[in-house]
Amino acid sequence: MTVAPAPARFNRDDWASAFRNVEQELTAVALTPVRGSVPAELQGTLYRNGPGRLERGGQRVHHPFDGDGMITAVRFGEEGVSLTNRFVRTEGWQAEEAAGKVLYRGVFGSQKPGGLRANAFDLRLKNIANTGVVQLGDELLALWEAAEPHGLDPQTLQTHGISLLGGVLKKGEAFSAHPRFDPGHHDRPRMVNFGVKTGPRSTIRLMEFATETDDAAGIQAGDLLSERRDSFAGFAFLHDFAITPNWAVFLQNAVDFNPLPFVLGQRGAAQCLQSKQGGQAKFWLIPRDSGAFAGQAPRIIDAPDGFVFHHLNAWEQDGEVVVESIYYSDFPSIGPDVDFAAVDFDLIPEGLLEQCRINLDSGQVTTNRLSERCCEFAMVNPEKEGLPCRYAWMAAAAREQGNDPLQVVKKLDLISGERQVWSAGPSGFVSEPLMVPRPGAVAEDDGWVLELVWNGARQGSDLVILRADDLSEQAVFELPLAIPHGLHGSWVPSHGSSQAGQA
Ligand SMILES: [Fe+2]
Repeated sequence: MTVAPAPARFNRDDWASAFRNVEQELTAVALTPVRGSVPAELQGTLYRNGPGRLERGGQRVHHPFDGDGMITAVRFGEEGVSLTNRFVRTEGWQAEEAAGKVLYRGVFGSQKPGGLRANAFDLRLKNIANTGVVQLGDELLALWEAAEPHGLDPQTLQTHGISLLGGVLKKGEAFSAHPRFDPGHHDRPRMVNFGVKTGPRSTIRLMEFATETDDAAGIQAGDLLSERRDSFAGFAFLHDFAITPNWAVFLQNAVDFNPLPFVLGQRGAAQCLQSKQGGQAKFWLIPRDSGAFAGQAPRIIDAPDGFVFHHLNAWEQDGEVVVESIYYSDFPSIGPDVDFAAVDFDLIPEGLLEQCRINLDSGQVTTNRLSERCCEFAMVNPEKEGLPCRYAWMAAAAREQGNDPLQVVKKLDLISGERQVWSAGPSGFVSEPLMVPRPGAVAEDDGWVLELVWNGARQGSDLVILRADDLSEQAVFELPLAIPHGLHGSWVPSHGSSQAGQA
């Protein structure tokens, strides 16, 4: 009897080949699918953001999250499909381009040349604008959570510069890369976002912006409609949040921050985060100004153990706030000496989708794991943001259990647990899937999923359009661009405002 060798989990060379510099900036290059065709109703622009520069002057970033932001726009119009990409011209990017070498430390551990002496006490932040991209009013915003957004031209992707959102933000003020789009829970659609200032106490500024112009009400798209500030005990690492009609939901992970190794030039700031032994995570529920609890104090409720970067969705039902999040068993810390391309996936906890039901009267929280499969970058139909719904789309590992790179798009029925999977394997690796509803759709899963794939076999990027209901392939484009593993994106319909995924 012969025993077949176990199949390789994934090809590391194919996965690692995506960590490279983007060398081109293309302008409105026409695209034709290599398979299938684009649905006529799919009209708008897919924007993606992510690190596009991973090496400079022979020096590689310590972690890809330190790479400079590069925006890709794929425009679907009556005249066809076209692609444009541009680096965000941040101050740091321009200075380093001119110098031909690294001038700044990175939050995730990238150091300037010259060792400790060159890095100690250099506490400047390089706003790298690499995490999210959304349109607000007439401006495209490239987002990075620790500082202000950069404003870009939505058509040409030309960088206008740092945007203070018409005077809403102060210079240097934090503005999360994870705005949530309220599809119209109350009077009008809104973009809800936050900034956090943290230390021994943490202050959250919650902001709600109009996404549509209403001349009769004297409101322009992009106007700030409401804001509030709330202060909480303890340090907070808040990457994402969730909204319901009445609440903005935050999860304060039980982590500590010891800045000393950062100050001394030994580590990046994010490498100074660590699990707080015996710490208690908390849900912070802040009443939205458009909701039934406007003006009330936040509710603070003990949360389950574990670490969360991203939430899927939140909603309200029978006196409960239900929050669905991707939980890690522990904070996946970034070691000072680990080559990110050689990371041992078995040593890192996987992300698992869990549902927490928070009873507002008793403060009791019950949890329910929704899937055992490693996943990230999950979203619901944007029309269902903040509302009860049935389906979620996410990036997931190819195998059913264990931690691995993301290779499949998964549609999960949150009620029955039934799932469908589209695989980019064995050589392909997926990014955040964006669900775009068909205009006028009634069914929750009527629409498409737009998916940017790293195709390791041809060392380039593909754009795949799937039907959202059964994940069958609708069209595949082989892009004339090699885009490293990216972060978040959004869809802007031809006539309308941003519909974000995670971002
Ligand atoms: Fe994120």
